[in-house]
Amino acid sequence: MAMTRRRFLATTGALGVAGCARTKELIGKGDDGAFSVATVGDTHVLDLRSTSIVQRAVSRINADERVVLTVAVGDMATDGKLQELTLTKRAFDRLGGEFYAIPGNHDVDMTSQDIYGNYRKVFGEADWRTNYGDWTFIGLDSCEGAAPDVSIRPDRIEWLQKQLDHVKPGRPIGLFTHHPFNPNTKAYRVQNADETLALFADHNLKFVASGHFHGNQVEERDGVLFTTTACCSSTRGNHDGTEARGFRLFHIDGESIETEFVEVPL
Ligand SMILES: [Fe+2]
Ligand SMILES: [Fe+2]
Repeated sequence: MAMTRRRFLATTGALGVAGCARTKELIGKGDDGAFSVATVGDTHVLDLRSTSIVQRAVSRINADERVVLTVAVGDMATDGKLQELTLTKRAFDRLGGEFYAIPGNHDVDMTSQDIYGNYRKVFGEADWRTNYGDWTFIGLDSCEGAAPDVSIRPDRIEWLQKQLDHVKPGRPIGLFTHHPFNPNTKAYRVQNADETLALFADHNLKFVASGHFHGNQVEERDGVLFTTTACCSSTRGNHDGTEARGFRLFHIDGESIETEFVEVPL
């Protein structure tokens, strides 16, 4: 089915909640209501050379007119250095559609007093909420410093609850986190994942898209789709021993979702 890329007319408004929050109302829904979202994760950029695979992913996404929104699901950098983050952002700047990011445990600078300082300078706030068509998308910072195994911090639980207070109960929601929520992930499940998911009890959570576990894992529980994806990196391998690098697409039509892994050559 031929579809034109829906351009976003974005207006930034205050959420009226404390701390780091930004919200955009994205206007410009297509006639048929179908659109796609891309997630690119674990690029682990170290230098200019290691942005090549990100550039190739961006070209593939730009060639797919269905994609209206791309989310970088963390570990863009190697050690949260300003140069690493800036190089990665420049690669993503070529995207034709809307772009958001959430931090991973390699995007914080543990040598700095403000470990998010570099990240914010390059990617903006660590958490966000945005609307597209009938959907709401939420990016949630799942980091506890540079720890590989984490719980969602109490201040982030509070932030998430405040976001959900602004979302009508029936509205479909896509959640993006770095650390996985997949109930049967082979590793790194967020330790308070179930407590966090319980916040959505009166809402219509449809999927949780994560990174951190470098490998493709897709499962569904109670009508919610959970994913992790192979890394999109030339500096790291996958945790499950698979070779393919790439990104993930979520094809959304009404409230139905299909997900697809797109391989990107090294
Ligand atoms: Fe990673
Ligand atoms: Fe990670």
